[in-house]
Amino acid sequence: MAKPKTYYITTPIYYPSNKLHIGNAYTTVAADALARFKRLTGYRVWFLTGTDEHGQKIQRQAAESGKTTLEFVDEIVAWIKELWKELDISYDDFIRTTEPRHTEKVARIFKRFLEQGDIYKGKYEGWYCTPCEAYWQERQLQDHKCPDCGRDVELIAEEAYFFRMSRYASRLMEYIETHPEFIQPPSRKNEMINNFLKPGLEDLCVSRTSFDWGIPVPGDEKHVIYVWLDALSNYITALGYGEEGSLMETFWPADVHLIGKDILRFHTIYWPIFLMALDLPLPRTVFGHGWLLLQEGKMSKSKGNVVDPRILAARYSTDAVRHFLLREIPFGQDGVFSIEALVKRINTDLANDLGNLVSRTLTMVERYFEGILPQPQAEESSSDRELKQTALETPGIMEKLMDDLKIGDAMAQLWKLIRRSNKYIDENAPWDLAKEPSSRQRLATVLYNLVESIRFISVLLLPYLPRTPERIWAQLGLQGQPDLQSWASLQSWGLIQPGTKVCRKEDLFPRLNLQEELNRDDPAKAAPKVRPEEEKPGLITLDMFQQVEVRVGRIVEAAPVPGADKLLQLKVDLGEGEPRQVVAGIALYYRPEELLDRLVLFAANLKPVKLRGILSQGMLLAAEDEQGRLALTTVDKEIAVGSRVR
Ligand code: ME8
Ligand code: MG
Repeated sequence: MAKPKTYYITTPIYYPSNKLHIGNAYTTVAADALARFKRLTGYRVWFLTGTDEHGQKIQRQAAESGKTTLEFVDEIVAWIKELWKELDISYDDFIRTTEPRHTEKVARIFKRFLEQGDIYKGKYEGWYCTPCEAYWQERQLQDHKCPDCGRDVELIAEEAYFFRMSRYASRLMEYIETHPEFIQPPSRKNEMINNFLKPGLEDLCVSRTSFDWGIPVPGDEKHVIYVWLDALSNYITALGYGEEGSLMETFWPADVHLIGKDILRFHTIYWPIFLMALDLPLPRTVFGHGWLLLQEGKMSKSKGNVVDPRILAARYSTDAVRHFLLREIPFGQDGVFSIEALVKRINTDLANDLGNLVSRTLTMVERYFEGILPQPQAEESSSDRELKQTALETPGIMEKLMDDLKIGDAMAQLWKLIRRSNKYIDENAPWDLAKEPSSRQRLATVLYNLVESIRFISVLLLPYLPRTPERIWAQLGLQGQPDLQSWASLQSWGLIQPGTKVCRKEDLFPRLNLQEELNRDDPAKAAPKVRPEEEKPGLITLDMFQQVEVRVGRIVEAAPVPGADKLLQLKVDLGEGEPRQVVAGIALYYRPEELLDRLVLFAANLKPVKLRGILSQGMLLAAEDEQGRLALTTVDKEIAVGSRVR
């Protein structure tokens, strides 16, 4: 049997200096989509992520927290792993740079560089940016700040080890020129060449003595190894570099190092030079994607202006957050995160396009065929052919785009199929076919084709929205049928069996009210919404129930509203001093005088509204039967006005 094709993809290893934000989640979700796509298409995938735990920044931050450095990072690492679980990140390995499997190998790598004369001892004098863990020469600073992040730099002067970058500079330059795939997107290549390689590479300082949170330099333990040499090595230490029969044999060189453009220099200059010094082949591609910005600029852990991805996922669902991250921003460019953009994406792509396709189709199969998928006719219309052809060619187009790391474009292609399917409903107007007994065969064909198209869509969604396909399969009656859920099953049209029992369930993605979402002033603090995919539809938590403030009130005034025969105008005492004025639609069932002095239940925290020009500051609660008759709700004994109902 042929050896399966392999795919090795990595994310940056994140600093556990603070909780991660959606910028960090963005890289990881993108890597996950690529990993899942490759697995779906039959590759043997290794997907690595982890944490970069050494360095001055972490040590300082831990000191401020009053914990030991390891306790400090342990807590954040646990939080990060929870985050990845909640975002469905399917990593194969999680490397921590404090693990012995890493530290031992880094010490050996350093030793080898020393022995080869790549590293020598000298004295460093220059500037250091601790948030970036980067060295700068005086002339590189901008307004005396770090040219990368604009923050303060500190002067350091210490005995140190240096790596002879100059030894490898021309080889690297040539490599970059002859391997157009190496630095992606291509626009970033020139930046690296012109800003760093052309002016001449300085030797890189690769050790520090002013703090000790790092891997000691072998044989000279008052130095610790520079955190970027330590960190970059994770991509090979995690594979077991240097061990007999390790995963290096299967997976090195990496196919993609996915990173943000902020750390491109480390990955396209330092890292390849270290690899050359180790006689290892270079990764096929280093992809530097753009930044996720907030309206007020780049989000960053050290600036504190972050959006917490766990809160977002809890409120809007994992798949909705993933969808936004992957679809909203052309991969490679910068994009802006806002609740408004997120809600619009959910409403347009997920509720309207995808959700409606599934619910409309299944509702019709239930209405017209008792939920049993009918047998299609052999004969095809041009609209049938077009739908079928779009479905059959979509997987190949998406595969090519994913290979080019155009994740958003691949999803756009999938949405083309979704929209084509919705258009197919409108073209064929099944509701008209249903009126004509002679069109029954045609109706059967149309609904069959729609269900089959939804099957294609569900499989293609797997890499991006991993929870949604199961929910679709449950409605299509395809649970536990792996041969209808595989990539290979997308080579043939018509695999779903007529006679399959479908069952329309809850809406996949309920529509959100944009205004309501914007009104939650602080998105990070608002109460989480129930995840639609995990709870029965319609269930709410106690917290959500208690958001409505129901209180006991006494009606102290009641009068008709002139010109509105259903309305009464009331004043209700809630024990607040001033009674509340409300307008209630109960005039057909209660006369004003019989209401006076009654204790009633009252929703007290509704936003005031004007009805017929009268301000209404709350709502009486009433039961309504099927004929629309009303009965006010009340309490069964005297109790103080203002008492809370819970
Ligand atoms: O740099 N938008 O770790 P880090 C998009 N430990 N992506 C963003 C982002 C934003 N606003 N902010 C961060 C480090 N990222 C080193 C890496 S690798 C050997 C060592 C993403 O915790 C982006 O991928 O600062 C960026 O490269 C990464 O988080 C930096 O994470
Ligand atoms: Mg950073």
